[in-house]
Amino acid sequence: MTLPRFLVLLLIIITLSSFSSEAASRGGHHGLKSQTFLSPPFFLRPGGVSNTWYHDIPFPRGHLALKSFNGEVVDESGAPVPLHEAYLHHWVVAPYHAALDAAAAEAAGLPATVPGTNAGVCADNLRQYYGLGSETRRTSTWVPDPYGIEVGDPASAPAAASGMYEQRWLMNVHAIDTRGAAAAGDELACAECRCDLYNVTVDENGRRIEEEYPGGLRCCYDGTRCGSGGEDGGAGGEEEERKRKLFFRYTVEYQVEECSPEKRAKNECVHVMAAKQVLPRGGDVVFGIAHQHTGGIGASLHGQDGRLLCASTATYGTGKEAGNETGYIVGMSSCYPEAGTVKVSDGELLTVVSNYSSERQHTGVMGLFYILVAEHDEQQQRDKPKPPALCFSFPVSCELLLL
Ligand SMILES: *[C@@H]1O[C@H](CO)[C@@H](O)[C@H](O)[C@H]1NC(C)=O
Ligand SMILES: *[C@@H]1O[C@H](CO)[C@@H](O)[C@H](O)[C@H]1NC(C)=O
Ligand SMILES: *[C@@H]1O[C@H](CO)[C@@H](O)[C@H](O)[C@H]1NC(C)=O
Repeated sequence: MTLPRFLVLLLIIITLSSFSSEAASRGGHHGLKSQTFLSPPFFLRPGGVSNTWYHDIPFPRGHLALKSFNGEVVDESGAPVPLHEAYLHHWVVAPYHAALDAAAAEAAGLPATVPGTNAGVCADNLRQYYGLGSETRRTSTWVPDPYGIEVGDPASAPAAASGMYEQRWLMNVHAIDTRGAAAAGDELACAECRCDLYNVTVDENGRRIEEEYPGGLRCCYDGTRCGSGGEDGGAGGEEEERKRKLFFRYTVEYQVEECSPEKRAKNECVHVMAAKQVLPRGGDVVFGIAHQHTGGIGASLHGQDGRLLCASTATYGTGKEAGNETGYIVGMSSCYPEAGTVKVSDGELLTVVSNYSSERQHTGVMGLFYILVAEHDEQQQRDKPKPPALCFSFPVSCELLLL
């Protein structure tokens, strides 16, 4: 007794290395978006220092090309705060990858967070981050067209295949309230973190600051105080009134390969790719499924006359838990045609059509179609009982593979 023989076909179609160059060649600031956010608040009284790290700050999500990053310190009403009141010593904004489920990552021997790395010439060597200081307001960070800093590529995440990590952003803001330095007329000395003005003898890590270290970061860490302003008894209440709630307000400009409003209205924000492949032997299609990356909508397989053999569509996650991760394709529908209803002939030219959304720019996308075909020669065997031994290394149960 012979088993029905299955022919496994993998049709690989176009791997787009870069959609971004296409987007860029359209010139101008096509698809440029801008979003403005506030950091968590920090509180400063005269002479005070805030040097804080914030994790998972608000940031545009998705696979994007960053074009610029600008920021400034503002007060509670959104008014820009001048440097002679709140000196912006420095700020840093950098990407990292965080495990969606830290406990699960730990159980799998993986770290909870992984610093973001670079593509390109400095891969794994130097990291790309944004960071400036007092010069921020009048410094351009614009990346000229047709370039952008590519971020948020799900394929670049650690353990990408498992979908265990997502890209997040962290921020460090170091600001010094120099209003209290008036007594000494020493705003600049406070801004330069002169140790004598901060009256500190040990640094943040409890290490003794040597005499030869006249000033610098080690003397103006989070919570230190420049000058003696406010220390003089009864002024406490007044000082409390002068305490300010400040924010680092930042604006990110980024690009996406955008579909025009007209096309969007006509539901044409789809990028279609196709490839053809000759099938050496015909038979009955018993199973079919497509593989796509983020942005994929679905793919279909067609016979030489254009008839539909199988359509496979993508399901996206909408939550956080494994198997339901927002922004990722968490499943593809498969085809199980009723026995003998979908046939292909010897030497038939098949076509795969793969649809990708062009609402956003995607790189390195691929479309692939997988089908199982029972050869004609074996069809007579179909009605005979089949031993439950035909297992493929494919994530479907044996019962499903045996028609
Ligand atoms: C400087 O620090 C010392 C001990 O840390 C403290 O006794 C002294 O009052 C401080 N001086 C000023 C001016 O705050
Ligand atoms: C692919 O896109 C075309 C054109 O928008 C559409 O007619 C077809 O149904 C889509 N196929 C799948 C499987 O999504
Ligand atoms: C995915 O998560 C969302 C949000 O929590 C929830 O509404 C939805 O039902 C989940 N889907 C599945 C298939 O579990």
